[in-house]
Amino acid sequence: MNLMKIKYLNFTEQWKEEKKDLLPIINKILESGDYVGVNASEVVAFQKKLKNIFSRSAVTVNSGTDALTFGMYAIGIRRGDEVITTSNSYIASTSTIVHLGAKPIFVEVLPNQNIDPSKIEKAITKKTKAIMAVHLTGRSCDMSSIVRIANKYNLKIIEDCAQAFGSKFKGKLCGTFGDVACFSTHPLKNFNGMGDGGFIIFKDAKNAKLISKLRNHGLKNRDEADFFGFNSRLDNIQAGILNFRLKTLKKIIKKRRENAKYYYRNLDKRFVFCPPETKNEFNTYHLFVIQVPERDSLQKYLKLKGIESFIHYPRPIHLQKMFKKQIFLLKNTENQSKRILSIPIHHNLTKKHLKYVSDSINNFYGKKNTNFRTF
Ligand SMILES: Cc1ncc(COP(=O)(O)O)c(C=O)c1O
Repeated sequence: MNLMKIKYLNFTEQWKEEKKDLLPIINKILESGDYVGVNASEVVAFQKKLKNIFSRSAVTVNSGTDALTFGMYAIGIRRGDEVITTSNSYIASTSTIVHLGAKPIFVEVLPNQNIDPSKIEKAITKKTKAIMAVHLTGRSCDMSSIVRIANKYNLKIIEDCAQAFGSKFKGKLCGTFGDVACFSTHPLKNFNGMGDGGFIIFKDAKNAKLISKLRNHGLKNRDEADFFGFNSRLDNIQAGILNFRLKTLKKIIKKRRENAKYYYRNLDKRFVFCPPETKNEFNTYHLFVIQVPERDSLQKYLKLKGIESFIHYPRPIHLQKMFKKQIFLLKNTENQSKRILSIPIHHNLTKKHLKYVSDSINNFYGKKNTNFRTF
């Protein structure tokens, strides 16, 4: 095998693809002088498009983190409330709960890394206010079970959709199950801008009205505020890029799904566990995570082979020092964190690249003996 260089993501290639069409759009926004403002043309158009896609009210903000903070605030998460969620997520899922004065209660995950619904009921107390379902890696959580439990105990549902734009559960879009759904359009996401960004999808249009003001200093017009708010506006250039990229996203997701299919078919299942896509899921493969023995050695080996990979996330949140005094028994989460590896899946990968990645992983284990067979 000749050495190849395979980047985890390839923004340079993406820009080359888009430059001809996107540069005039950015130029037009720059020439308009309409850069920031909740009524900026591209921002307004983007919100309208989101409303059509989700059939719910949408509010843009300037990050997925703000989407979570404002989204949870809108549905009434306050000091002393408990929010049930998972620990193997990006830190913002939990930090936003904490910043609202609420308490994250972590429960275990399934082999597919998403929340294990069978563990939720035991974690419910008098203080439980909501369940936060993180659709990690682009795979939907089991929303039938989560909605059933939330209805039974009168709990709110927050969907952290930062990694799951376009993902579905039983044919229904992620983001349309909960009271609120929070998205990130950070450059690393499948549906990405070229800077920070995010948006919130609300079940109740009244909450959208509240957050539209909260993200813009509480202002109801240029000079009058209804309350003290924040500055969390999506800027017009990001909105313009996102409006453009909405048109190409289907193709990107399709290619990511084809890449995933290739990996499922070609990675050696004796050594590599990739949680299969079930008939209920439409996975958009924000990440393609393999679960493997000797993960760190494999990662080093892939680096020598010129293949970039990452770990999402090496340290579960409950093991961060902020939880030093609080013990959560999360064996599955901790075991998974030692075995997971995200391999390249972006849409610029060719068959040759995919073969090179699969062969490299299979060769790493093939050279060793069957002690690796742990599944
Ligand atoms: C699961 C999850 N939640 C929340 C966030 C926060 O989004 P942002 O980086 O846009 O603030 C991210 C982004 O990395 C994420 O992956």
